[in-house]
Amino acid sequence: MKVEVENQNHGIDLIKIDNEETNIVFTNYGARIVSWKYHDNNIVLGNRVEADEFYPQNPYNFGATIGRYAGRIGNASFTLNNQTYQLEANNGPHHLHGGSNGLDKRLFDYEIKDNITNVKIIFTTQLRSEEDGYPGDMTIKVIHTYDMEHRWTIEYEAQSNEDTLFNPTNHVYFNLNRDNNVIDNHKLTSSKLNMYPIDDTHLISNTQTIDLIDIFKSDSINFKDIYLSDNPLIAEQIKANNGLDHPFEIGNQQLLIENNEFALDVETTMPNMVIFTFNHTSDWKSDFNIYKAHSGVALETQFLPNDINIEKAQAKSILKANETFYSKTTYHIAEKKEQ
Ligand code: GAL
Repeated sequence: MKVEVENQNHGIDLIKIDNEETNIVFTNYGARIVSWKYHDNNIVLGNRVEADEFYPQNPYNFGATIGRYAGRIGNASFTLNNQTYQLEANNGPHHLHGGSNGLDKRLFDYEIKDNITNVKIIFTTQLRSEEDGYPGDMTIKVIHTYDMEHRWTIEYEAQSNEDTLFNPTNHVYFNLNRDNNVIDNHKLTSSKLNMYPIDDTHLISNTQTIDLIDIFKSDSINFKDIYLSDNPLIAEQIKANNGLDHPFEIGNQQLLIENNEFALDVETTMPNMVIFTFNHTSDWKSDFNIYKAHSGVALETQFLPNDINIEKAQAKSILKANETFYSKTTYHIAEKKEQ
């Protein structure tokens, strides 16, 4: 495998890994994925040519590491150990994706380990309580590994010096279509596809999930069929959001997404996944914004968003002082055999 570093402006580096059939590019800006190509088909949304101009302005978190907390914290407030914390409200009344000083906006330090069968990039950063309003100063490692079998693995390792919340994810958008047309033709498969309904501010409105497998009588469902469903529970959610922006429980923490040509297998140690189909694209006024709704789908492996206000002291996102957080998510791309 070949690794090459390209320095762009503002301290932004691109780290390019090539294994002939596929190549993948990461950057130290937000420890993010920039591009992932199977031959000439780019299967993620991003910009490798002008990354230094594209990413700092992009409001859609393309490919970024999200933290401390992926998704919304309701009313930008939570209580931990009897103390209430007020966070930045950067999404209406709510706090979203760790706020405007979150991990996606940071230049990480990094080290590259070029092994024989894989390449590892170990990104590190520190997050101080005074920077984002959460308790605890944190040390965070985001490790991206790419291997000969076209498997991208993300591992997160983190510690805090006080009890805090930690719920990291990666906000990559996939589009397996060669022509990059909308992802409505992609199919989701998992042994469980339970969707949490959300309210008009995108917070979970009810912990009673909607069981898609039961409704569709299949564990393989097209996005298009979800969008066109006449099931009242689904139709109401799709209409209000112009697509999916929903936390899910998936079976065995595993999900497959595919079109006619490619299959992407996702496996994670995290209990939930937010499936977001890039439903509104008009709030970025930029020549870089060439995107229309459903240009990609984000599969954000994480704890349930707003869990601290739903599950309180039982919330899985609570990270105890001086304990080590660890999670791992793997995305594996394969070309489907001719049928
Ligand atoms: C998603 C979130 C969406 C939207 C998007 C922006 O994770 O659920 O509502 O805010 O991030 O990147």
